[in-house]
Amino acid sequence: MGGRLQNKRIMITGAAQGIGLAIAEACHREGASLLLLDRDGALLGTEAERLAAAGATLFHTAVDITDAAGIAQAVSDGAAAIGPINALVNNAGINVFSEPLAMDDAAWERCFDVNLKGAWTCCRTVLPGMIEAGGGAILNIASTHAFTIIPHTFPYPLAKHALLGMTKALGLEYAAKGVRVNALAPGYVATQKVIDYWNSFPDPDAAKAETLALHPGRRIASPEEIALAAVFMISDECPFMNATCLTVDGGLSVQQHPA
Ligand SMILES: NC(=O)c1ccc[n+]([C@@H]2O[C@H](COP(=O)([O-])OP(=O)(O)OC[C@H]3O[C@@H](n4cnc5c(N)ncnc54)[C@H](O)[C@@H]3O)[C@@H](O)[C@H]2O)c1
Repeated sequence: MGGRLQNKRIMITGAAQGIGLAIAEACHREGASLLLLDRDGALLGTEAERLAAAGATLFHTAVDITDAAGIAQAVSDGAAAIGPINALVNNAGINVFSEPLAMDDAAWERCFDVNLKGAWTCCRTVLPGMIEAGGGAILNIASTHAFTIIPHTFPYPLAKHALLGMTKALGLEYAAKGVRVNALAPGYVATQKVIDYWNSFPDPDAAKAETLALHPGRRIASPEEIALAAVFMISDECPFMNATCLTVDGGLSVQQHPA
């Protein structure tokens, strides 16, 4: 086990699977203690037990990030179990994809409640403790959708653009208090969410092949590859990185079109 995150007590939302779970595993390997949250309590429990059996110091609880009182309780219970939270990974997020005029108000509200307000709720819950302690690190898992648009994915990219805006705003606001706030922008990552997306097409294999062909390296990222960048950004190895966004997309978003 490495020690790059020793003395970090990291709250991770959406930690039951995918990118959040990979970040939890990578942070444990680097010596962090973990507060793991997810709305899927059964899956979270299974994965948390597996991590604990592997030696992780952790507290886990089922909570939806749209439930502000639940988040406050989770942070309080988590701090009692592992110590005050000094790092937060806002990872929980959902795809809400539509043609703009086909979208109903409920979809708009669900998208922003989870992808933006939920992240803000977690920030506002842990920030006072970080400021009082003299510092901390917040990492918002954004997306290449935070600065590019794919038609018919409305309003998900709007929420991710706003998450990037919140990253900059909070990063500036609390820099003098020692709190760093950054964003990480993955492109396509091989998680259940992406498999579900492929399966939503009549020919899932063709949809997958089309996605891979978009990428300069003809493959998409593994969750573990995103976690490697997350560990760096939470760690003390980049103390002057603040209010910015690191793109981890294999070059996807800088090409004019696929070769
Ligand atoms: N997979 C990708 O290709 C990709 C690309 C770019 C950005 N992202 C972002 O990365 C993050 C994680 O994505 P993933 O692919 O690992 O997703 P995933 O669907 O595999 O896992 C997300 C987890 O978050 C939990 N969750 C969802 N809404 C929640 C809520 N309201 N409260 C608490 N928990 C909640 C789910 O139960 C699930 O366990 C998201 O913010 C997503 O937008 C993913």
